[in-house]
Amino acid sequence: MAHSSRDTAEGAGWGDHRPGEYKRLMPSRVEKLSWLDPRTLWPARNGVLASWFGDPTGRTRARWVEQRAAAGAPADAVIRRTDADHFSFMVIGDTGEGDDPQYAVVPGFLKVSQGTDFAVLASDVIYPVGGTDDYGGKFFRPYRDYAAPIYAIPGNHDWYEDLHGFMRVFCAAPPLAPEAAPRRPTRAWLRSLLWHRPGAADEQRLAEARELRSAPSQQAVQPGPYWAIDAGPVRIIGIDTGLLGTVDAEQGRWLREVSQGDRPKILITGSPLYVDGEHHPCAIEGGGTVDDIVRDPGHHYVAAIGGDIHNYQRYPVQVDGGRTIQYVVAGGGGAFMHATHTIPRVRVAQVAEEDFRCYPLRGDSLAFYSRLYGRRLRMRRFFTLTEAEATAVIAQRLGIPPTRAQGTPVRVTPRTRLVAALLGAGGRPDRTSRLRLPVRKAYTQLFSPGSATYSPPFFKCFLRLDVTPSSVHLRCHSATGTLDHEIDPPVEDEVTIPLS
Ligand SMILES: [Fe+2]
Repeated sequence: MAHSSRDTAEGAGWGDHRPGEYKRLMPSRVEKLSWLDPRTLWPARNGVLASWFGDPTGRTRARWVEQRAAAGAPADAVIRRTDADHFSFMVIGDTGEGDDPQYAVVPGFLKVSQGTDFAVLASDVIYPVGGTDDYGGKFFRPYRDYAAPIYAIPGNHDWYEDLHGFMRVFCAAPPLAPEAAPRRPTRAWLRSLLWHRPGAADEQRLAEARELRSAPSQQAVQPGPYWAIDAGPVRIIGIDTGLLGTVDAEQGRWLREVSQGDRPKILITGSPLYVDGEHHPCAIEGGGTVDDIVRDPGHHYVAAIGGDIHNYQRYPVQVDGGRTIQYVVAGGGGAFMHATHTIPRVRVAQVAEEDFRCYPLRGDSLAFYSRLYGRRLRMRRFFTLTEAEATAVIAQRLGIPPTRAQGTPVRVTPRTRLVAALLGAGGRPDRTSRLRLPVRKAYTQLFSPGSATYSPPFFKCFLRLDVTPSSVHLRCHSATGTLDHEIDPPVEDEVTIPLS
């Protein structure tokens, strides 16, 4: 088995590697997405409008669900799949912008996914705005050789055009007629005035794209943006947390309903419940939270997996009765990388640092961002930290032993310490906090992430879950963009979840 980033620096993809062959899969022309470009930012304004003038997502979602129900979709939204007591599926989140990092995941994904029954794409299927015309290069083409069905839940980006692309591709839904704008000058009136609406889809382009996944074994139709799959001994439940990471009352009622019963459950969401050392229980309109439902002992959840944040994190949380629920972040499927080095020493819900897992390792994340800032600010000599320096300074700042098993010990210099502080390592506030450079959300607004991350290691990842009557085995594999890792994708984390 290949070394992982927890074993060696080479296992993380550092050093001289032969580059992977993923470029052969890419279209000849890739439009590089720039998050600085007003043409990218302006159509993505609906999230901001929803937070200023009220979020219309719940209403729009209800109209989609109504439309599907009228077309015969089952009211419980359960896609019944298999009675076999052994089965396997893939989870991949935030798959990317149709560029190198997205395609670099594909060879390893195809290798690891052999024999799986289906895949779930966990949130943000299409950047930047979920457009129907983008499905060719960012969905159908990269996963054309995955032989089984792919189900999906939408993320905020898929909602920027009122979910039209998503509903069309995954639910076979015709366009939704726009709602009449309010007549009186209210907040909703102002919002509808400024709202970005989808244009007409290029039908020929979509038809050609669909051809790429047209085998009978690849076909799948979902009842809507939220659904449940009864597969062997478990029920997998996918929810839609819309533009702002919340759940509407109707979906909340449905979630309580399908969560009943003894069958062990796995939640898939676009808003992870534990992330970056914090608890985000995810509010349901009218009261309660998604995490209340997940923790309820009568519901038998064993795991909750969320996209949205573009890396891997796992928190084994003890809940009442001595049960453990695995809370996982799995958004590292291809889009630009969110830092892990800003995660403080973990102490949340009695999960200690020793029990916590993440990928990329914090040291690798810091080394990656130091190179990025060195390049962008033309201060390579000042900013660039080697992976060994970054690993050492992280260990010092967090007061933890170095996570990499084999590394050459290096001395932490004042420059290393300063760069680590400027890049927010460890998330700990100190004198340099005010100078801290953006490495997470704000980073996307400052730089074009794609252009800066076009060479390996990419630090991408995806999950494979193998289910038997007695357990779920969850594995996180990395995709670095190197040839060795395409042939044998390293295992960065694995856990066996008992099903009692
Ligand atoms: Fe995302």
